[in-house]
Amino acid sequence: MATFTNILESEEPSITINPSHKLAKINDNIYGGFTEHMGRCIYGGIYDPGNPLSDENGYRKDVIEAMRELNVPVVRYPGGNFVATYHWLDGVGPKEKRPPRPELAWLGLETNEFGTDEFLKWCETIGTEPYFALNFGTALGWVEYCNSSNNTYYANLRRQNGREKPYNVKYWALGNEMWGPWQVGQMTKEDYAKKAYQWAKALKLLDPSIELILCGETGYSTWDSYVLKECIKWDVHSLGGSMTASLISMHSIHIYTAAAEHLPNATAPRSAERAIEITARLIDLARIENGVPHTVPRQTICFDEWNVWDPTRAPGDKGAEEKYTLSDALAVGVWLNVFIRQSKYIGMANIAQSVNVISPLMTTKSGLLKQTTWWPLLLFSKYMRGYTLAINVRCAEYLGPTEPAWIRGTIETPWLDVSATISDEGWVSLAVVNVHETRGFETRLEGIGSGSVEVLTVTGQAVTVVNVEGKEEIGIKKSQWDGKGLFSFPKHSLTMLRWKA
Ligand code: AHR
Repeated sequence: MATFTNILESEEPSITINPSHKLAKINDNIYGGFTEHMGRCIYGGIYDPGNPLSDENGYRKDVIEAMRELNVPVVRYPGGNFVATYHWLDGVGPKEKRPPRPELAWLGLETNEFGTDEFLKWCETIGTEPYFALNFGTALGWVEYCNSSNNTYYANLRRQNGREKPYNVKYWALGNEMWGPWQVGQMTKEDYAKKAYQWAKALKLLDPSIELILCGETGYSTWDSYVLKECIKWDVHSLGGSMTASLISMHSIHIYTAAAEHLPNATAPRSAERAIEITARLIDLARIENGVPHTVPRQTICFDEWNVWDPTRAPGDKGAEEKYTLSDALAVGVWLNVFIRQSKYIGMANIAQSVNVISPLMTTKSGLLKQTTWWPLLLFSKYMRGYTLAINVRCAEYLGPTEPAWIRGTIETPWLDVSATISDEGWVSLAVVNVHETRGFETRLEGIGSGSVEVLTVTGQAVTVVNVEGKEEIGIKKSQWDGKGLFSFPKHSLTMLRWKA
């Protein structure tokens, strides 16, 4: 959390920080990924058999390395919209027997060469946890296949397919964007809430150890308030009489931001911050109205699709291969600041997506391109873990148009967008995105002590710069600062300052 004091453009900005003012533990799962059967994400992305860059399983080694470098704790799969008509059974067993199917979300053909076992093995190779999105109809068998150690049909099918030990997939989403008109299986909020609750009950009876994620919308819609009210209950009956359990652990929301102009683009993730604040209150309202006791852990938000994406410039049915600019990298910096500031409410967040499709990572036949947006993600994932610190930011505000327009009037858009963390080892990290296109800010930093400060900067010549193969202009520049006087945050930059408290 950050408090913001709006000052005149002519006044000196300041950031106040106190390493002992811890606010909330940051869930590592905010650095989650997402791989969908869409465009070149799976085929040609994480899985590329026959390519010399792939291992014996057909997994791209350079992608594995990048996911490890990013220390991605959890990856969502197999969609997205793709999951609406997916049957997991098509994607298990001998590859030559797997049926090719028409794919209705992105209007392609699914060979099913890559499926549950291939994905789960990939997760184990990376050292990340899987998170499955399901559709109603096929879910029970899928959970049994993945998690059961009993002598039952689907658990035995898994054994027959070469995997004795259960995978113990913990996170399962009750559908994806079920409110969307593009969705095969679109539902009214009433139908969804009823169905989701029934399926949640059955799934938890089958495997009480799983965590279920309710399908929300943007977090600020009637759909969200309705399904929360209907599904966040005190579910004592279905869980063996336990007084502390709930069927639902998290509520999923999705937002993509984008704008043609730099400032509306870079400040757009502030809408996600407002969405989180609203969703957290809707969760509390449902708990209060349904009399959920405090012994039932408060449900958190699963922001399982977020990123910069304009589907008109990078359409989904054409693979959504966005080319990200420095402006987009700064927007991603603001997105990540949002998750840090709001960490109290966030159980998981998944950048959409991890490879090739609206992604910071792009595979080519001969290598891996790191787009501009890779660098803020890497910096945050490496350093912004531990606890969120309370800070106060005094600076002036951008006052022009915003995207969406409702940002103006509901949340401020300061020139300096800031968050801070402290790690278990006592390292303080302060992330500052200066969204101003032409002005640097000489800023007073109060409470940073007097030692040497490590400085990591992401910036470039202009906000329009993109990284291309052979010329990756945007990266991380390292330097030192003696901690004395004012610190100058350069125009259109992300700066991370790190010191030992
Ligand atoms: O991430 C791309 C798509 O965007 C997902 O499939 C869908 O859930 C969302 O609309």
